[in-house]
Amino acid sequence: MRLYLALPLVLAACDDPGRIRTGPEVFRLQGCVTCHGLDGHGTQMAPDLRGVAKLWTREELVKYITNAPEYIKTNERLKEQKKRYSLNMPVYSALRREELENVADYVLALP
Ligand code: HEC
Repeated sequence: MRLYLALPLVLAACDDPGRIRTGPEVFRLQGCVTCHGLDGHGTQMAPDLRGVAKLWTREELVKYITNAPEYIKTNERLKEQKKRYSLNMPVYSALRREELENVADYVLALP
């Protein structure tokens, strides 16, 4: 096999799949970036996440990311906001606890 073909395999092997991802990594790899935009600045598909630290505790945010559709039912502001977007905030129930906390911390720290 030519070297350039083998390189991605070597790189993939170096990246331990069991490793806990950092907040920015989760944001990118789980597709948050696709809807919420680069650095969480918002797109037509999802709201700007800058300044949401005023609205969320870390614990509530982790709960929300784990099951947004359920959470939205109990929150008038989110229910109203949801009407502006055609896609739903997905359910991230398979993420590990540490990764949920990391991505929540990332969102809460957005400048
Ligand atoms: C398919 C598009 C999509 C993806 C992917 C997505 N979101 Fe969302 N997100 C939304 C939409 C739409 C809303 C607005 C829902 C609402 O306000 O009821 C939302 C709302 C939110 C909110 C609440 C904002 C507020 O006003 O309080 C947070 C926080 C959030 N998303 C974080 C994330 C994170 C973190 C990820 C990745 C783990 C993610 N989202 C992935 C579409 C998406």
